[in-house]
Amino acid sequence: MKISMIVAYGKNWKIGINNQMPWHIPEDFKNFKAITSGHHILMGRKTFESILSISAKHSSSGVGKPLPNRTSLVLTRGEFKHDDVYTFSDVQEAFNFARANAEEELFIIGGANIYETLFPYVDKMYLSEVDYDGEADAYLKEIDFSTWDLTEQKDYDAILNEDGSVKTPAWKFKVWIKKD
Ligand SMILES: NC(=O)c1ccc[n+]([C@@H]2O[C@H](COP(=O)([O-])OP(=O)(O)OC[C@H]3O[C@@H](n4cnc5c(N)ncnc54)[C@H](OP(=O)(O)O)[C@@H]3O)[C@@H](O)[C@H]2O)c1
Repeated sequence: MKISMIVAYGKNWKIGINNQMPWHIPEDFKNFKAITSGHHILMGRKTFESILSISAKHSSSGVGKPLPNRTSLVLTRGEFKHDDVYTFSDVQEAFNFARANAEEELFIIGGANIYETLFPYVDKMYLSEVDYDGEADAYLKEIDFSTWDLTEQKDYDAILNEDGSVKTPAWKFKVWIKKD
């Protein structure tokens, strides 16, 4: 089973603020959905709670749900439980669960804590580099790209509002594979 990591980061490796993404880039979300759909996704308890709170805001019932069409695996050292997700206190147990379900590519989807702990296991990275230098309180650990090969890149321009302010920042999507 391949282990992949998917993350969007701004300048200085910024990835979050107040347990949310610091920017809103619909095209990046679409991309994330296309890449991860049908797969097991592994996340920390805080990122899962962030997903639930976004989903609750968009739901008429006000109840948040896990991301659809994916099997959510949530890491917690506590008693956290939620319907429709599998919780694990041990990383290897989560990996084994995905393997036992014949997963071929498991996606690590955050947050800061989980990216840092699981980075040594990652074979492939799907990175969105966002032109954002605003507020943040969650960061990715700096990546040394010398041990990775860039296999794909697509650049996206910023989208501006009528008054010239930035609606969505410019970003670059890059795929990296670990060198042998
Ligand atoms: N830009 C992006 O692409 C992106 C993607 C995802 C998330 N984010 C951002 O990242 C931030 C959240 O990151 P975070 O570091 O605060 O939280 P996190 O990594 O999402 O979750 C941390 C929690 O995971 C559990 N955990 C961590 N390591 C574990 C281990 N080895 N075994 C078992 N459980 C473990 C613990 O849960 P318990 O406390 O329950 O024990 C811990 O408190 C938010 O701002 C979010 O928006 C950004």
